[in-house]
Amino acid sequence: MARPRIAWLPGDGIGGEVLQATRLVLDESGFEANYIPGDIGWEFWKKEGTPLPDRTIELLRHTECAFFGAVTSMPNVDAMRELPEGLRAKGARYSSAVLRIRKMFDLYTCLRPCRAYPGNPGNMREGIDITIFRENTEGMYSGAEWDKIPLELYEVKGMERVPRQAAITIRAITRKASLRIARAAFDRAADTPRQGAASDPARTGICPEKRLVTAVHKANVMRATDGVFLSAAREVAGEHPDIGYEEMLVDTCAMQLVRDPLRFDIIVTTNMFGDILSDLCAQLVGGMGFAPSGNIGDKYAMFEPSHGSALDIAGKGIANPVAAILSARMMLEWLGDKDSAGRIGRAVADVIREGRVRTPDMGGKMGTMAMATAIAAKLKKGT
Ligand code: IPM
Ligand code: MG
Repeated sequence: MARPRIAWLPGDGIGGEVLQATRLVLDESGFEANYIPGDIGWEFWKKEGTPLPDRTIELLRHTECAFFGAVTSMPNVDAMRELPEGLRAKGARYSSAVLRIRKMFDLYTCLRPCRAYPGNPGNMREGIDITIFRENTEGMYSGAEWDKIPLELYEVKGMERVPRQAAITIRAITRKASLRIARAAFDRAADTPRQGAASDPARTGICPEKRLVTAVHKANVMRATDGVFLSAAREVAGEHPDIGYEEMLVDTCAMQLVRDPLRFDIIVTTNMFGDILSDLCAQLVGGMGFAPSGNIGDKYAMFEPSHGSALDIAGKGIANPVAAILSARMMLEWLGDKDSAGRIGRAVADVIREGRVRTPDMGGKMGTMAMATAIAAKLKKGT
């Protein structure tokens, strides 16, 4: 394989620390790439009035994929307070860098696997293996929002139900985006066998012998938007008679995930439900330190740990790098280097199982680089 070009975007807070740790592991895995650093984050908001400078967007355009750490995202009022007067006068407006990239590059699948690595003291149960497919470009993240509703909108029938003083956010759901996220989920289900305790018939009940896709929605309330989402999911389910399919209300799903996480396999859902449920699922398997993610489109992808910049622990060297390292593993899979990806996965699993090196979130005393070094050492030994 020709050396891929990877945009390397550490960003804020612990982003830089976990990316440094990840490089150690990537380099030890034998995978070779050109890593090209890019500017992103709070520093550039304060200096330039944007957390995502145009030169960084150009960099993304000229790379195969991106690897991203974290960017602090603050509510507008707080962001504006930090901006120098000159830039404020120019009308700079804060918008999340990661959300812009997801939309701009049409990275419509947010893929978030949540797996209980054996021996992780943070596992709620052993055997949890849930993969979330979160639609990543629309829904409540449409970006169409008003703090004061324009008067012309009140001319539309139905708007009389909305109080005059309300702020509104538009939840936009299209058939096109719903179909493609459903396809991504079912394609994954069709490609890979069911694994781990999730395949234990005693635990799952629904259709233990097959993979199971759960479409999560709130169509009993948001009839229009989730009606579109569900009909797309049903259509794709109909194309896959060999894969189990069920639908679940998002509130029920949150409850069931805590009650019996082993009954779940693949979850497909809209943007904000996926955002919330993926944090819930992360906590089932040890917390955000174990939650990798991929933002994947047809032509480009960006991989990132799901945790944010965690400013409370930034600079201390104690962040768990596993979420970032597992995101790198997903990146290698996407780039087609399944061999290195598999070896990284096994090295992580070995270190967690042995339990000698644990970061504070796991109840241990070791730091970010110690964890990465332990994982890299397993690779050296040729796991
Ligand atoms: C995530 C994060 C982002 C999101 C934030 C930082 C905008 O919570 O990746 O889950 O809401 O998608
Ligand atoms: Mg989130």
